[in-house]
Amino acid sequence: MAALSTTAPEHREFPFTLKEYRRLSAFVHGRTGITLPDHKINMVYSRLTRRLRELEFSTFAEYCDYYSSPEGEDEIEYLINALTTNLTRFFREKHHFDHLAENLLSDLSTDGINGRTRLRIWSAGCSTGEEPYSIAMTYRETAASRVQCDTRILATDIDSSVVARGSSGRYGGQSVAELGKGRRYRHFTAFGGSEWQVRPELRQLIAFKQLNLLDAWPMKGPFDAIFCRNVMIYFDNPTKARLVQRFADLLAPGGWLYIGHSETILDQKTVFRLRGPTIYQKGT
Ligand SMILES: C[S@@+](CC[C@H](N)C(=O)[O-])C[C@H]1O[C@@H](n2cnc3c(N)ncnc32)[C@H](O)[C@@H]1O
Repeated sequence: MAALSTTAPEHREFPFTLKEYRRLSAFVHGRTGITLPDHKINMVYSRLTRRLRELEFSTFAEYCDYYSSPEGEDEIEYLINALTTNLTRFFREKHHFDHLAENLLSDLSTDGINGRTRLRIWSAGCSTGEEPYSIAMTYRETAASRVQCDTRILATDIDSSVVARGSSGRYGGQSVAELGKGRRYRHFTAFGGSEWQVRPELRQLIAFKQLNLLDAWPMKGPFDAIFCRNVMIYFDNPTKARLVQRFADLLAPGGWLYIGHSETILDQKTVFRLRGPTIYQKGT
């Protein structure tokens, strides 16, 4: 308690004790795998205060009772959306896209990989879509004109609001400007005064779906590559280990797993070989 004494939000507009915070964070952890340590209490407070005002609650205790009750079940989606961290950008950690182009995509023959005519890539924890669109741009730029391949990119996230934004394919001028003029005009068209719309050739490669990585997965795979970057950073070690094992089960032999720059995989060194910084390959 002492560490929070100067900033503890008990004295703010909505009382929020450490006990209530831990109740809320345990609930979110159970549903999403996201760990919310005590020092994030102020962040959680600020992300939820507007919602408490809208619902006309006067304490966090009332809010916790509400989303835990049968009448408040729909509130859980709002709560989770509010507490996810969605930071992303096009071609973030560019070396992964270079690796994809130089390995998986350059291996595609006109008959597909190893005689197969199907390429499946999963962006797991895709946020607002910059990651799957970067994969799609890489595919269009390096492979699409030379291969006849049934290519699909699955883009999933637990946060329904970011999935909707990714699916819309609309981005602000600033984030698209970072791509440079060549890519901007090749893959986007101007939309309204200040936005850009992803062109249909890219959009048709991607299916956006809401999916909690902790739940059962409806897809059977196999995937040739899985991007799960800057997602597991929020999970505890047992959750990470289970997830990486499930990725291994869904990858084709020789398939690739790309993880975030500050992440490692823990117990699966026998299943995966490290092939580059944060790039793993499943054994064949
Ligand atoms: C920081 S963003 C990373 C986006 C992108 N992968 C990148 O590296 O730029 C993390 C994303 O993971 C999602 N996420 C967190 N927990 C999740 C879960 N249990 N299932 C699915 N997605 C989750 C969040 O909603 C968020 O959009």
